[in-house]
Amino acid sequence: MPSLPEHPEPAASASPPAAPWWETGVIYQIYPRSFQDSNGDGIGDLEGIRRRLDYVSHLGVDAIWLSPIFPSPMADFGYDVADYRGVAAMFGDLAQFDRLLAEAHAKGLRILLDFVPNHSSTQHPWFVESRSSRTNPKRDWYIWRDGAPGGGPPNNWTSDMGGSSWEFDPATGQYYLHAFLKEQADLNWRNPEVRAAMMDVLRFWFDRGVDGFRIDVMWHAIKAQGLPDNPPNPDYAPGMGEKYKVLQTHSTDQPEVHEIARDFRALADSYGERLLVGEIFLPLPKLMEYYGTPAMPGVHLPFNFQLLEAPHWNAGALARIIADYEAALPPGGWPNWVMGSHDAPRIAGKLGEAQARVAAMLLLTLRGTPTLYQGDELGIGVVEIPPDRIRDPQDLRQPGLGLGRDGARTPMRWDAGAHAGFSAAEPWLPLGDDWRTRNVAVQDAEPGSMLALYRRLLAIRRANPALNRGTLSSVAADQDVLRYERSDGSDRFLIALNMTSAERQLMLPEGADVAELVISTIPGRSFDGRLAPDEGVILRMTHH
Ligand code: NOJ
Ligand code: CA
Repeated sequence: MPSLPEHPEPAASASPPAAPWWETGVIYQIYPRSFQDSNGDGIGDLEGIRRRLDYVSHLGVDAIWLSPIFPSPMADFGYDVADYRGVAAMFGDLAQFDRLLAEAHAKGLRILLDFVPNHSSTQHPWFVESRSSRTNPKRDWYIWRDGAPGGGPPNNWTSDMGGSSWEFDPATGQYYLHAFLKEQADLNWRNPEVRAAMMDVLRFWFDRGVDGFRIDVMWHAIKAQGLPDNPPNPDYAPGMGEKYKVLQTHSTDQPEVHEIARDFRALADSYGERLLVGEIFLPLPKLMEYYGTPAMPGVHLPFNFQLLEAPHWNAGALARIIADYEAALPPGGWPNWVMGSHDAPRIAGKLGEAQARVAAMLLLTLRGTPTLYQGDELGIGVVEIPPDRIRDPQDLRQPGLGLGRDGARTPMRWDAGAHAGFSAAEPWLPLGDDWRTRNVAVQDAEPGSMLALYRRLLAIRRANPALNRGTLSSVAADQDVLRYERSDGSDRFLIALNMTSAERQLMLPEGADVAELVISTIPGRSFDGRLAPDEGVILRMTHH
């Protein structure tokens, strides 16, 4: 792969402007604690990631998104940032980061960092100052209020991690707001000094050469003026998690958040092709607003979690999801799809191996930038976490509700050696039962492995413009088979995914013939007009 140009060349006026890299590219999420440990403390680190860059590059992705690497008390494993401009000692230091970035760039890989603007750690010096007195100049950098007149918190907002969103601070006799843990205080984005300080943070990393950011809980950043009570959630039932007690009508998704997005975007674009991905969980029409408008651009890619959140995984439901999402995109809005993350149950755990292979084909043949989560390329499934090894604060605070995220955060398995080659010591989370047989070394040697499938799919996507930037059409579901076409000029592909464990006849679109089976999710198959149980295929088509 070529190394990255320092400054993108302006496109010649005769040819259409070259697409930005993410429109043909694939993002690979690395959870730094769990990728590769280099110093035997059982926790992954930057040097570990650097040593594994060849693996990532050979996989065939274009960019790495690193979950937070910044100094942090790790109450929420780095989403509680104590210094936005440094590297946590357990992960390394700035010099190691610079080296990682340079070596990634030399291999043609971009690096996105995780920007956490909504809240900082309560150990961030800004918050330490803010809480020190009611008159401290940084008091207004966070959201402080008196208790309700009759006592108790200022309003009824509930934290995503359970309990009230308010924590009483006896030293100054007021409450501060925290949408997540009480160790994560919400910043006041209505304060221009906060905005300026955070823009400086982005500049700091852009100047070091980072290729963009994933922006944590972006839709949370601004709260309604006056902080009115949220309406109760009529669908709330105990057992759902206290986050769902009220609707987040006034605590999230306020119109002014789009001004912030505009400012981030203007800064990113001033550096060239730098990518902003917004983490946003909202219904489709609201999600689309985060693309912004021509007059007020938003982030390049508001994360699309439809596949993660799909309540039903079947051909009909997915056809609807794809069609609705495509139809909702604003003009010029580039789509994207996410299949896994450090917050969600593993896809192979939900679907099983055979359908996880079909899901891989889906993710890598849809129109839009795919985000692939580390370990999904090995088909890691459910990893049971024994009670004494639970580390996720969300699980520890509201036990027994099934809210735990540790199962998706277990270490990469590299080989069948001690601790799966992840570490010289016991890893911070268990590896799972099947790590001796489900690991990179084993799958490297098996042409039919999940890893081999991912590599081939990524290579096919890269080699065929129809499958990356091409158009998507004819989305249909019929007899448990999901199909759609991707094309670029006369280059046409039909993707057909059998989402059931029974054989199916393949219905071809009107006027189309199969020219070639490009790949099947089942090794060794040749095409005979039928789809085997749980089989997905990419077919090159001719039209008569
Ligand atoms: C979303 C992150 O992905 C999650 O891990 C974290 O707990 C919350 N944001 C709070 O920062
Ligand atoms: Ca380490």
